[in-house]
Amino acid sequence: MGILIQDGVVVNADRTMSADVLIEGGTIREVRAGIDPQGHTVVDAAGLLVLPGGIDAHTHLDMPFGGTTSADDFETGTRAAAIGGTTTIVDFAIQAKGTKMRDALDAWWEKAEGKACVDYGLHMIVTDLGTSGLEDMDDMVSEGVASFKLFMAYPGVLMVDNATIFKAMQQTAKNGALICMHAENGSVIDVIVQKALAEGKRAPIHHALTRPTIAEAEAVHRAIVMASLAGVPVYIVHLSSEDALNQVREARDRGLPAFAETCPQYLLLSIEDHMKGESFEDAKYVFTPPLREKKNQPKLWDGLKHDHLQVVSTDHCPFCFEDQKALGKDDFTKIPNGGPGIEHRMQLIHHHGVNAGKLSLNRFVEITSTAPARIFGMYPRKGAIAAGSDADIVLWDPNAEYTISAATHNMRVDYSMFEGFKVRGNARQVYSRGELIVENGKYLGKAGRGNYLRRAARGGAWQ
Ligand code: URP
Ligand code: ZN
Ligand code: ZN
Repeated sequence: MGILIQDGVVVNADRTMSADVLIEGGTIREVRAGIDPQGHTVVDAAGLLVLPGGIDAHTHLDMPFGGTTSADDFETGTRAAAIGGTTTIVDFAIQAKGTKMRDALDAWWEKAEGKACVDYGLHMIVTDLGTSGLEDMDDMVSEGVASFKLFMAYPGVLMVDNATIFKAMQQTAKNGALICMHAENGSVIDVIVQKALAEGKRAPIHHALTRPTIAEAEAVHRAIVMASLAGVPVYIVHLSSEDALNQVREARDRGLPAFAETCPQYLLLSIEDHMKGESFEDAKYVFTPPLREKKNQPKLWDGLKHDHLQVVSTDHCPFCFEDQKALGKDDFTKIPNGGPGIEHRMQLIHHHGVNAGKLSLNRFVEITSTAPARIFGMYPRKGAIAAGSDADIVLWDPNAEYTISAATHNMRVDYSMFEGFKVRGNARQVYSRGELIVENGKYLGKAGRGNYLRRAARGGAWQ
């Protein structure tokens, strides 16, 4: 006896079809019109879209940063993700300098244990290759950590030098992992920041004004050059500007395997609309790279449409305004960097992408689910409505209207970056491995039901 999702419109990245979907034992067994309902529990999906569960490839749950910890843990964060239609996340473990990556992996497994509400993978942030870091990377790949994030920004904290980046890239040429790059020229930005502070510029807006788009573009360019020298692909995280996008597009036009994601905040928010100048309220929008001028937004949408950008993830890294962002009340460099977004990625991209005519439904599915599954070694187990895939399924009501607000959201943070945004399109029911975990905005599953995903490196098979 299975669950038969009947009469919906199945949307995959490559096609749309009217079909029934049969789920058995947590897996999709069959997708075709007219499956015999006899003996199955029938779910009426007439008028609904049947989408592969969303995949958010960039989250920071329970993450120490700037003397505090991101406000959502694996329970509250993944529950909010599920409610919004995201059934898989990939979070970041952080190797503390001078320690082994395995220590960080153990620590992040512990954070997720008993808490994760959806399946989760882990990237590893490399801060130090030390004497055994390259072998550590291979060890991580054997544990399903098939991607590593390196920072070209945050000098003295997370930033690594070019030699470290290049060595790590060379290692991924052997072990098949993917380097994810935080691409901003941290050394140059630091000089600009110190000058601003010396001039008494301390308000949050100066976080944005001291991080020019060409400092992002230069780092993107450098990352792509190093990756091409090492003969490996590279994935640029949270790309925010036209200048940076141009670097990725030009590299892809030359046939280089450069990939990039952007995030809803860069597509929908701007310095002009969301920063007031000298107000500390602006700290709600302090994340890195920062908010950009509005003129960048149409370029990013266009990049998504034409596959110059492959993925939309959230970079969900929430800090409460009242008691966490306030750490930087007198100095923008002390504001914990990051913003909340894990719950509303699907709604925002559906509304502002599909409803606005900027993206097809198939492209919406591709950039929010299928492409991250492929790039991060989870496809076809995740990212598709297909026989054999995990039954991670969202029944999406394209006409449901919803107003985003901190008063009603499920993230454990006291503000929304998208407060008052009205969207059309929302998750009605969400299945994770065949279990109905969300219905009409209510989480029905247990904390801890989410499994760790051992992701495959390039050329590797599903483990
Ligand atoms: O401001 C941000 N993005 N915080 C999270 C850390 C990062 O760089 O992704
Ligand atoms: Zn980053
Ligand atoms: Zn991030």
